[in-house]
Amino acid sequence: MTPTVKKKKVSGQAWSPASWRALPIRQQPDYLDEKGLRAVEDKLKSVPPLTSPSEANRLKRQLAEVAAGRAFLLQGGDCAESFAEYNEANLRAFARVMLQMTMALMYGAGKPVVKVGRIAGQFAKPRSDGTEKIGGVELPSYRGDMVNAMEFEKGPRQADPERLLQSYYQSGATLNFLRALFSGSFASVDTITRWNTDFIEHSSQSKRFQSVVERIGECVSFVRACGLTPDTVRQLSEADVFTSHEGLLLPYEEALTRQNDDDGKYYACSAHMLWIGERTRNLEEAHVEYMRGIANPIGCKVGPSMSPDELLRLFDALNPDNEAGRLVFIARMGVGKIGDALPGLVRKLKEEGRRIIWSCDPMHGNTIKSPNGYKTRKFTDILSEVRSFFAIHKAEGTYAGGVHFEMTGQDVTECLGGAQAISEVDLGSRYHTHCDPRLNASQSLELAFLIAEELRRN
Ligand code: PEP
Ligand code: CO
Repeated sequence: MTPTVKKKKVSGQAWSPASWRALPIRQQPDYLDEKGLRAVEDKLKSVPPLTSPSEANRLKRQLAEVAAGRAFLLQGGDCAESFAEYNEANLRAFARVMLQMTMALMYGAGKPVVKVGRIAGQFAKPRSDGTEKIGGVELPSYRGDMVNAMEFEKGPRQADPERLLQSYYQSGATLNFLRALFSGSFASVDTITRWNTDFIEHSSQSKRFQSVVERIGECVSFVRACGLTPDTVRQLSEADVFTSHEGLLLPYEEALTRQNDDDGKYYACSAHMLWIGERTRNLEEAHVEYMRGIANPIGCKVGPSMSPDELLRLFDALNPDNEAGRLVFIARMGVGKIGDALPGLVRKLKEEGRRIIWSCDPMHGNTIKSPNGYKTRKFTDILSEVRSFFAIHKAEGTYAGGVHFEMTGQDVTECLGGAQAISEVDLGSRYHTHCDPRLNASQSLELAFLIAEELRRN
C-alpha cells in the first residue's frame, strides 16, 4: 500500500491565495508604480477565469494515467511567449507540430499522449541577474513581455503592471483559438497523417522515419475498416489540449485564483497546470507556498543540485495526499550530469512509495554560448539527455512518463544540428526567441520520431 503523507504547512499559517505574501520571494520585478499594480490586480480578480476547475481536474485524471504508466506526457512550447510574435500563423504552426509529435509518440509508446502546451500564459521569465549592463549602462533585466520590454532603454525596461493585463487578454485569445483548432478537422487523425507523410517527403534525412509513418497510415486504415471513422469516434476527429506556464508572478496567479463551488478548493485559473522553476523551488519560500494550496496539477523543475531528502520533502509539501496526477517532477539535469544526479532521486521516491510523474526537460541543462555569441543548444545533447532519462528509468524499474521541450512551429535557427544540420553560422539567420533557443518544427518532429523509435525498442 502507498502511504499517505500528513499535510505540512510550509508557512506555519493556514493557506490562502495570498499566504505566499508572508514569505521570502525570488525573481519578482520591482514595480515602481505600486498603485498601478494594485489596480491591475483588482481588475484581474474580477475578469472571467481562463480555465475552469473541471478542466484542471480532467487534466489531473489524464495525468493520473501517466503516473500509472498507461499514458505519456508531451509538454512543450515557447521558452517565452511574446506580444510581437503573437499571430494566427504562429499558433497554427505550433498546434500542427504538437499534433504531429503526438501521433509519433502515440505510435511509439502505444499509449495515449497527454498534450500540455507551454502556451497561453508563458510570458514571465526568471533571470540569473536582476540587472543587465551594456557599455557602462545598467538597467533592470528583461523578465518577459508580462513584465517589461526587451529594448535596452530606461523606460521600456521598467516593470509595467499593464503588461499583466495584456498577457491575460492574449492568453484568452490564444486559448480560444487552440480550443477551436483542437476540436475541429485540424486535429483529426487523417489531417495529421497527411502532414506526417508530407514531412517525410520533403526532408531527405527523414527517410528513416518513412516506415513509421507508413505503419501509422496502415493502423489508421485498419481502424477505418473496422467502421471507426472521425465522423463517429470523437478521439479520431479531435484532441484535448491543455495549457501551462511557470507560475512565477504570484500577484498575477493570486488574482486569477478562484474557489470552486463544487469542492470548495482553490484553483489557479490562469492555466490548467502551473510549474515551479528551478530558481524558485525553495521549500521555505513563496512559490512553494502558493502552489501547495491550489488544486491544479502542478510541475516542479528538478536540477542537478537537488538531494533525495530535499526532493522527498518537496514532494510531501506539494502533494501531501500522494495523489496520482497531481505532481510532475521535470528533470532538467544536462547531458553530462543526468547519469549521476537522476538515479538517486528516482530511487528515493520509489522506495518511499510516492506517486510521481517523471518528465524529462533536456533543454535547460544543455544551454551553451556559441563562439559568435548566440545562446544555443545542440540537438545531439538534447537527444542524448532524453535517451539517458529513458535508460535510467529502465534500470530503476520506474516509468519515464514524459518529455518537456522548448519548441516552436516556426522555421527558426536557434538550436544546432538536426536533419537540417543547422550550424553556428546559420544561427543569426532566423534567431527570434525572446529567451532560450527553441527546437524548430523540423527538429521537434525529428526528435519525436527518434523518441518513438526509442519507446518501441523499450
Ligand atoms: C524554463 O522552463 O523556461 C526555465 C526557466 O526553466 P528552469 O526553471 O528549469 O531553469
Ligand atoms: Co527556457
